[in-house]
Amino acid sequence: MQSDLVCINAACGVRYGITEILYNCPKCGGLLEARYEFGHPDASMLKRTWRERRMSNAPLDQSGVWRYRELFPFVDDDRHIVTLREGNTPLLSGPRAASYGGLDHLTFKHQGFNPTGSFKDNGMTAGVAQARRLGMKRVACVSTGNTSASMAAYASAGGLEPLIFIPHGNISYGKLAQALEYGAKTFQVEANFDQILALVRVLAERLGIYLLNSINPFRIEGQKSIVIEMMDQRDWKAPDWIVLPGGNLGNTSAFGKGLREMYELGMIDRLPRLVVVQAEGASPFYEYMQKRRLQENALSPFIPTEHPETLATAIKIGDPVSWPKAQFEVETTNGVVERVSEQEIADAKAIIGQSGIGCEPASAATLAGIRKLTSAGVMSRDADVVAVLTGNVLKDPDYIYRYHTGQLKGHGGAKDSDCPIHPNFGNRPIVVPNDADRITELIS
Ligand code: F0G
Repeated sequence: MQSDLVCINAACGVRYGITEILYNCPKCGGLLEARYEFGHPDASMLKRTWRERRMSNAPLDQSGVWRYRELFPFVDDDRHIVTLREGNTPLLSGPRAASYGGLDHLTFKHQGFNPTGSFKDNGMTAGVAQARRLGMKRVACVSTGNTSASMAAYASAGGLEPLIFIPHGNISYGKLAQALEYGAKTFQVEANFDQILALVRVLAERLGIYLLNSINPFRIEGQKSIVIEMMDQRDWKAPDWIVLPGGNLGNTSAFGKGLREMYELGMIDRLPRLVVVQAEGASPFYEYMQKRRLQENALSPFIPTEHPETLATAIKIGDPVSWPKAQFEVETTNGVVERVSEQEIADAKAIIGQSGIGCEPASAATLAGIRKLTSAGVMSRDADVVAVLTGNVLKDPDYIYRYHTGQLKGHGGAKDSDCPIHPNFGNRPIVVPNDADRITELIS
């Protein structure tokens, strides 16, 4: 099948070969995406094939990404693919979280069940397949944690050398530990995510290293599988809303592209509305979309946040590379962008925990956003909503302990560092003597 890399900038639209090593259009600087001549496949036949693959023992069929390979047919040879059986993440219903969010029902798609603990695995298996196909030996990324753990695992599993760049002192130990354990050469840089991304792009060019941040269009192709699997699990009934946390906005771009393609191929009969939720201290996309909405046709510029701040480190990004794609996808689905405070994220996270589900701080922005949108009347109580929990509860144990013991403060930025977060749903551990009578008293 014909596949190309195409500049998404409508005024440019130049096509490049699928094996060219490009991250931006050389002509206009626009973002690139993979496009295919799908023709007219039989949608019901494909759906049946994908269902049948769930019973197969073949590694690619067992992968919750490659099972859907007909919708991202860019690899020319399956031997390039490395799978850790990513995807296959559950849809979980959360009644306690639904009522907190002002909804009758709420479903979570929990990407924290992935092999390295986040949704990044869905994209990384695709990015690493392309790296191997191109004959690259070294791969690199900047990361606030999840991307680095994922890239380290997939690169090492595929015999490539992973090089990881992380903001010094601003990454969770669990994630750093994974990167080290999976054998990545790890650089802690004295700069923030956005600055390090610019640095890594220079190094990638200079040293011929393949860049595996979400600016890489093949990462986006793999991440489309999250929403394809979601529709498969829902028997192809599209929800009213899909809610995502927004950082670099790669996932928003992937969801929008996946939904559009499924809609065009007749697999779903409507487009769900996308909701992107950002943290207040790192919300340039919210501000931009707000301006576009209020000024209608005005061409307002995108203004990055120079010093992004949030305790939800995964979305602590001030200059998201994929904002033009995300803008298009949000507007195409008649979507909404919201932002939430540190207190709102922390409380929503505790509620997701109390539901027996749990997630990392960035993921909890979804429930906090839902609560705001239902109270504003944007989302109705009986809406069919899927919130995507992007990462595992074990990402930031320190955050959890501090919240439950009333020690969580501000977002670590100078200006709010003394702003306490109230443990509205706190659950303090109790220190007790080795005394059965005393403990009995406390329990009863
Ligand atoms: N949720 C989690 C758990 C993440 O790790 C990230 C991004 C996001 C949400 C934001 O997704 O960038 O597609 O809008 N983490 C990156 C990293 C930055 O380095 O792991 P996005």
